[in-house]
Amino acid sequence: TDTRQKRDFLRLTDLDRSELLDLLERAAEWKLLGKNGPRPLERQTVGLVFEKASTRTRVSFEVAAYQLGGNALMLSPRDTQLGRGEPIRDTARVLARYVDCLVVRTFEHTKLEEMARFADVPVVNALTDSSHPCQLLADLLTITERFGADALVKPGLVVAWIGDGNNMANSWLEACVLLGFELRLACPANYDPDPALLARAGSRARVVRTPAEAATGAHVVNTDVWASMGQEAEAEERKRRFAGFIVDEALMAKARPNAIALHCLPAHRGEEITEGVLEGPQSAIFDEAENRLHAQKALLELLLANR
Ligand code: CP
Ligand code: NVA
Repeated sequence: TDTRQKRDFLRLTDLDRSELLDLLERAAEWKLLGKNGPRPLERQTVGLVFEKASTRTRVSFEVAAYQLGGNALMLSPRDTQLGRGEPIRDTARVLARYVDCLVVRTFEHTKLEEMARFADVPVVNALTDSSHPCQLLADLLTITERFGADALVKPGLVVAWIGDGNNMANSWLEACVLLGFELRLACPANYDPDPALLARAGSRARVVRTPAEAATGAHVVNTDVWASMGQEAEAEERKRRFAGFIVDEALMAKARPNAIALHCLPAHRGEEITEGVLEGPQSAIFDEAENRLHAQKALLELLLANR
């Protein structure tokens, strides 16, 4: 039996700086290998427990598991006893007897942590209300592709976040903590990211109140929906509060000439981003989406190879 400690990925800072940089390098190798790489997950099964909708995360994890020689099982709460109220602690212990890894998308972060506490296998955060670390792996990989392999380690990188201080913004703050780039978050008042994370990032991260202050001179201009999953009831109020927090051509013109636009998708054209930016020459958004697959192969390899 395996006596080694299992390893979870619940937040980006579950990796240290050098592990993160190694993982991104490995992800670039997986991208080159395509479907022809080694199969470190032979006979292993990844269970996907998703309480919210997903296109990219779900499909990229399933495909990653298959291409690494393993299997993936989609476990929707609609079809499992989780949806009928079976406790998380029971579900986690039982699933861990069958599968080798649990990839979990849920609402409260504490539910993910409970899953990790009771499951004897690695648990991966596939998005909670408070963070989305897998998306950051892809986003950082995209930055190294566009600005060079050393872009995250050499001084000077400026990242702008435009809009809601949501789960994605919080994960960007964790990336800032690990890598030390300059992060400027333009958020409407009362929509700031997690204050504890902001404090942890110190002077490297700053909240401003206008998109222009954040985007001017930035290498990366990044945004996300105004209303996240679970906030549907606030959508109309948020439309009013977020008016003007849009990544458009005028905002991109304030960034560096070679700046890229990022968006984790799905996008709402005409709300947080214009059609022109999303489809334009500075958009790295579809590479970013593709990179979910390559980054998660590196993550699954790190957590599961030789287990
Ligand atoms: N970016 C992202 O996580 O997309 P999905 O919700 O489609 O998984
Ligand atoms: N902030 C968004 C990201 C979706 C991938 C949400 O949580 O819905």
